[in-house]
Amino acid sequence: MSQPKVLILISGNGSNLQAIIDSVAKKEINAKIIKVISSSADAFGLERASNSSIPTFVHTLKNYYKDLPRGDRPKARKQFNKDLANLIIYGNKEGDDDETPKDHEKPDLIVCAGWMLILSPEFLSPLEDEKISIINLHPALPGQFDGTHAIDRAWKAGQDGEITKSGVMVHKVIQQVDAGEPLLVKEIDLIKEESLEDFEERVHKLEHEAIVEGTVIALKEITQAKEKSD
Ligand code: GRF
Repeated sequence: MSQPKVLILISGNGSNLQAIIDSVAKKEINAKIIKVISSSADAFGLERASNSSIPTFVHTLKNYYKDLPRGDRPKARKQFNKDLANLIIYGNKEGDDDETPKDHEKPDLIVCAGWMLILSPEFLSPLEDEKISIINLHPALPGQFDGTHAIDRAWKAGQDGEITKSGVMVHKVIQQVDAGEPLLVKEIDLIKEESLEDFEERVHKLEHEAIVEGTVIALKEITQAKEKSD
């Protein structure tokens, strides 16, 4: 199999994206990062990608919501997801109704690295049909704090004495949010009286290790599957 192609979805700072970029540069990850797509035009991760000459694309929900009555947002969100899948598979929003750009590359793996939007069936189904794997980094243990603000919620539960352990995981992306099969779980102890900032710093450090190790595991599975089918 030629070098696997990875596309990374981001929404913000991109520190997890940077961890992958650095690991590819150090050849810890054997893959080519073909594109970074951000759900925000202001994401610093876009600058990180450009600094490493990685093509970027901005795909924002607010462009779909612009001037829409609130009641029309669910339909627009479905279109956002459908267009995102087409952009990744065909290189354009129209899908195979339009021609695919000559230089378009389809990824073998999509990594959600700080991607803050729920990926709907309109996105997941076409990618499943194309057999493109998707993994997500989530800063909590399986089933512990699904959804947003997981780090804050874990810290609060720790300070309230409800839990003594939290963690981060890299899991396969399925329809149910943050509920796919974990590829990798890393635990972290909660420390009484520790500030949220200090806890957050420890979690992000663990994320940067987990996102690299999780990507390696996913790529190994993909490579083995392709070798079997060849
Ligand atoms: C991380 O905690 C990530 O898990 C969450 O967003 C935070 C920032 O990630 N989804 P990054 O620095 O943008 O990679």
